Amino acid sequence: MNAVTAVATPSPETTSQHFEIRPLGQLGAEIVGLDLARPLNDADFARVHRAHLDHGLLVFRDQHISPQQQVDFSRRFGPLQIHVLKQFLLAGHPEVFIISNIVENGQPIGLGDAGKFWHSDLSYKEFPSLGSMLYAQELPEEGGDTLFASQQLAYETLPAELARAIQGKRAAHLYTARYADEVFKGIRRPTLTAAQLAEVTAVVHPVVRTHPETGRKGLFVNENFTTHILDVPEDESRQILAELYTHSARPEFIHRHVWQPHDMVFWDNRSLIHLATGCPSHLRRRMHRTTIQGDVPF
Ligand code: SIN
Repeated sequence: MNAVTAVATPSPETTSQHFEIRPLGQLGAEIVGLDLARPLNDADFARVHRAHLDHGLLVFRDQHISPQQQVDFSRRFGPLQIHVLKQFLLAGHPEVFIISNIVENGQPIGLGDAGKFWHSDLSYKEFPSLGSMLYAQELPEEGGDTLFASQQLAYETLPAELARAIQGKRAAHLYTARYADEVFKGIRRPTLTAAQLAEVTAVVHPVVRTHPETGRKGLFVNENFTTHILDVPEDESRQILAELYTHSARPEFIHRHVWQPHDMVFWDNRSLIHLATGCPSHLRRRMHRTTIQGDVPF
């Protein structure tokens, strides 16, 4: 072996990148200087993972990554989930779900009105999502912001009577819970086939969940997918849920993300709910989402 080969150049996987984690307030942090096109070494990955747990929402600025690189980075956090609306999966990359208001040749290219109600992604699955990565492809000149609300802060500040009412309670979640309301509001919702409906039957989760990695408790119901609280009369369930929804979206729990070109945002669905604020329909918006599978809530 000669001297040149003996002193190996570190591979990209062993080289740390210089990046900063800048908290955005009590929720969220901006990651500046990290290039997601380069595979992260273990130390950088551990910093990002820790930041995700500490801040709930990470904003990676100025990313230039391919769909495969988004998939690869997402997979480091867990297996990826394939959305039930197969017609909006990116060709060649079924792990990438297209969220877009763009219509081409008379057909929507993605789910046009995703997130019109507060929700946690895939709370209607037995294994709801750990987190989602949303990568901006095309942004409108006006609107299109995404709001995020901490459900841990919401839980920690619940009025005592409401906290008592939900103690030990479980709630049902269903993908199609708001379908009729959405269509009624003029929101474009594709009709589901029998096979798609069979993929999204109702599930039950605790109303308050414990974060599996931090141990912090948070509310886990949302106006998009939760249908009712079990073991209480229907009108009481409706009343409790209405009070929870009002409380869980109080302004002090919310961070508004105003998208910049090439942003990639990674949030924790175990501790946050989110809402897409929408944009004027003549403006184009296209986002690519990967969704990481989480644990059964407890
Ligand atoms: C979503 O609900 O995952 C999409 C949010 C957005 O498009 O801003």
